[in-house]
This record gives sequence, structure tokens and C-alpha cells, in this order.
Amino acid sequence: VRVPTPANEPVRDYAPGSPEAVRLRAEIDRIGGQVRELPHVINGERHFTGRQEAVVSPHEHARVLGHITLAEEKQVRAAVDASLAARHDWSMTPWWERAAIFLRAADLVTGKYRDELNATTMLGQSKTYHQAEVDAACELADFFRYNAHSAAAIYDQQPTSDPGQWNIMDHRGLEGFVLAITPFNFTAIAGNLPSTPALMGNTVVWKPSEKSALSSDVVMRVFEEAGLPPGVINLVHGDGQSVADQALASEHLAGVSFTGSTAVFRSLWKTTARHLDSYRAYPRLVGETGGKNAIVAHPSADPEALLVALVRSAFEYQGQKCSAASRAYIPRSLWSRIEDRFADTVAGLRVGDVAEHETFVGAVIDAASCTRLEQAITEAKSLDSHRLLVGGTVRRETGWFVDPTVFVTDDPTAFTMTREFFGPLLTVHVYEDGDWTNILSLADNTSAYALTCSIFATERAAVSEALSVLRDAAGMTYVNDKPTGALMGRQSFGGGRASGTNDKTGSPLALQRWVSGRYIKENM
Ligand code: ALA
Repeated sequence: VRVPTPANEPVRDYAPGSPEAVRLRAEIDRIGGQVRELPHVINGERHFTGRQEAVVSPHEHARVLGHITLAEEKQVRAAVDASLAARHDWSMTPWWERAAIFLRAADLVTGKYRDELNATTMLGQSKTYHQAEVDAACELADFFRYNAHSAAAIYDQQPTSDPGQWNIMDHRGLEGFVLAITPFNFTAIAGNLPSTPALMGNTVVWKPSEKSALSSDVVMRVFEEAGLPPGVINLVHGDGQSVADQALASEHLAGVSFTGSTAVFRSLWKTTARHLDSYRAYPRLVGETGGKNAIVAHPSADPEALLVALVRSAFEYQGQKCSAASRAYIPRSLWSRIEDRFADTVAGLRVGDVAEHETFVGAVIDAASCTRLEQAITEAKSLDSHRLLVGGTVRRETGWFVDPTVFVTDDPTAFTMTREFFGPLLTVHVYEDGDWTNILSLADNTSAYALTCSIFATERAAVSEALSVLRDAAGMTYVNDKPTGALMGRQSFGGGRASGTNDKTGSPLALQRWVSGRYIKENM
């Protein structure tokens, strides 16, 4: 069986006044005017519980968009039971029929549900038109299509047989259920983490971030309309810790499909260690976590390309991509050429309501995020080693806004160069031009993370040296490009060290994690 080779979904530009923009704006107004009740979906049935939590818009936090109810023990148990009950039939379903469901889901994403996915992502997660489109429409559909395509190569791997004998590799799903815990910052990742194990024959309990509940509800409806049988993916809203504690205590846990913070992933890992003796099989833990992503520029770098990369990767989506740049190492000769223009560009970025086309930076996700960033900014301002270049202001009255902020430091080991803030905060260390080799080692050693990095240089020797020194410093290395915006089928995403298990979402490597092979040898 061959699955058609996909192409990346073309990105629509939503130019002001264009029919697409007008339609999407109408959808934003329609959904923004509603208060949706967002249910758990367990075995295809909608459930609500008593404990409610409001879902609000980060850039207009008085606007209530909906309510989730928090799962209690009963719902989590029901979701686990539904997954286990659905597992046999689903895992015995021919893989190309499973793939067909996700290919249909991709077409629903780019067709019927495109505006609703974009609008819910804009309203609920504060993404601009462009940021919503590349995520909730394009990357989500790309994940479904590329995964289906890559699955063929996995199922194709079969042993040879001698005469009178037949050897078969039976690519089973894992025994038990998979727990998927998904982050607020990408609608595509929220859809990908439960659907990848499901494509490979697993059944799933899916706990989305409460901050993306509005768009995750649409993704769940897409799965159902595409033909996913009840019980294959069971969505429960709730407190992450208590849902995880209960699900991880099940003897039937087969794996965890996670994107989120390093601290939470480590705590999930520790919890599974505590239950290890009771599991029927060793669970597989697949996680993509934090980053402290560096842009490292050589004196030979192209200043224009560097400028664009700094602005886009530090401030698009408010710096809330795990791939975002938050530290930069720039040689003095280059910095003196770009400093003023960079400061002016950042100061000119429009911060505000994402439904306005001019907005480049929306709100950060919640009040806690605002506070965390404000504390970091205050601390950095108090240090002699730091100079505030631009930004530094936090406003909470109508939405959780943090102005794009840049510090320049002469201390390359300061907390601003090592700690992840997950917001629009970039720190630049200006180094002496001859110090390239030292700077590469420093960039490698000052952070515990290894997710993305960018190298800017036009001299080949400098590129080669950087690729060599920074070999383990990132799972995604970009040369003369920004470190964000991996495109499925081109660069599959993931990192090592404290950034995750580096299983490369959307690639055959990720699919492989969700199968457990059985060899069958039959003498004829
Ligand atoms: N996949 C996202 C990016 O590459 C995180 O920016």
C-alpha cells in the first residue's frame, strides 16, 4: 500500500479585505460572541462534571469564550476503560484504513473546519492570522498527511523468508492505552500527539491544555467526523496533575505522548518509575519539552538575514514557541551595524488584539505567564550586567500583554542566558570578533536544553566549526535561518538533553515509538 506523497498545505495570507480575511473575521466574531460548553468526549459520548472553569481570551481576558469542566476520578477511569475496550478492534483494523481516517481529517482541517480552527486558535490562544494559519490549518493537516505517508514505510518493513517458511513482522500497537498530554501553544501539536499513536494502532486518553480547550474541541470533532471510532481517542479536560496521577497509576499504561515543560515531563517520568513494578509492560515515554534556543552569529554573517531572524524567532507568537530564540551571541562589529535598526524594529512591533491585521504580538497566555515575565524583567533591570534595549513593560488591564523586550548583557552566563521564560524576552550577548571559538563552546555549555539553534555565517569554515561544536546542542540546527517554523516533511521537530526524547514529531522515528513488533515464523 502506498499513501500519496503529500505536499505542505499552502499558507493563505489573509490580506485585509480579501474574501478569506472577511470570512475568518466573521468566524472570529461569531465564536467570540458565544460561550461554548466544552465537554469531555469519552467513548464518543459528551460528558460534563460539576467543577467548571472558564476559558477566556488572553488579549481580552474579560471575554469568556467557554467553560470546561474538570474531570473527576470517574471520568478518567471511564476514559481509560473506553481506550482499553476499543483497543483490540482498532489495532486489528488494517493500517491503511486507519490512515484513511486521518487523511480525511486533514481535508476537513483545510476545508470545512479551517476557519473555525483558525478562529478558535486566535481567540483562545492569542495567535495572529498568520500564526494561526501556519499552525491550526497548515501544520495540523501536514502532520496527518505526512504521518500517514510515513506509516507506509514502517508497515512495509518485512523480513525475508526461506523456501517452505513465511516470516512476518506484525507491527502491533502497544499493549494498553497511551496518555497524551498536550500544550497550549500549538493547535497542531495538540492534534498530533494523540493522533500519531492512534494512527499506529493505539488507543488514547487525551488531556489537552485548558488554555487550548476551544481549539482542541474542534480538533476532536474533526476526528469524529473523519470516522474515528468511539473510544480510540478519549478527550478529558481537567487538572493535569490529577488526571496524570490517575492515568499513570493504571497497570495498563502503554506510553505517554507529551509536549510541555521540562518540569512536568520529569515529574511524569518519576511517577511512572514509582509504578514500574505494577505495569504489565514498560511504558514508552515520548516527550518534547523546554528550550533556551540560541542564535549564534559570526562576523561574516549577513546582517539583514540576522535581523529578520532575531525579530521573527524571538517575538512571533509572543516568544511562546518552544523553538523561539531567547538568547543571541553577536560579534561587536555586526552588532554596531544592526543595534539601532533592531531596537527600532522591535519597538515598532504592534502589540494588541490579534483580530487586527496590524498586530504582530498578541497577549501571553495567562496571568501567571505575565507575572513570570515581569519578575524576570525586573530582576534583569536590577543587574549592572544588563542594559534594557527596548520594551520592558507589562500591561494587564484588558489583556495579558508583555511588550517585546530585549536586554544586552556582558555576562553570558547570567540567568537571562540560561533560564527559559516562554515569552517575548530576548537577551543579546555582544562578544569580541576574535572570540568565535569560545562563543561556540559557551553557547553549547550555558544551557541545559538542546532544542533549536541558528548559526549565522557566510564563511564556510565558520559554519563547519559551529556545526561540529554545537552538534549536541540542538535537535534542530538552522544555518542562516531563524530557529522556528519547522515544516513537516522538511524538518521534523524535536530536541535532546532537557528538551526531550528527540523522537522527531511527524517523522518515521516518531511513528516507530508507537509500534511494538511481533515476528511470526510459520513453517508451511
Ligand atoms: N514546530 C514549531 C516550530 O518549529 C515548534 O517552530
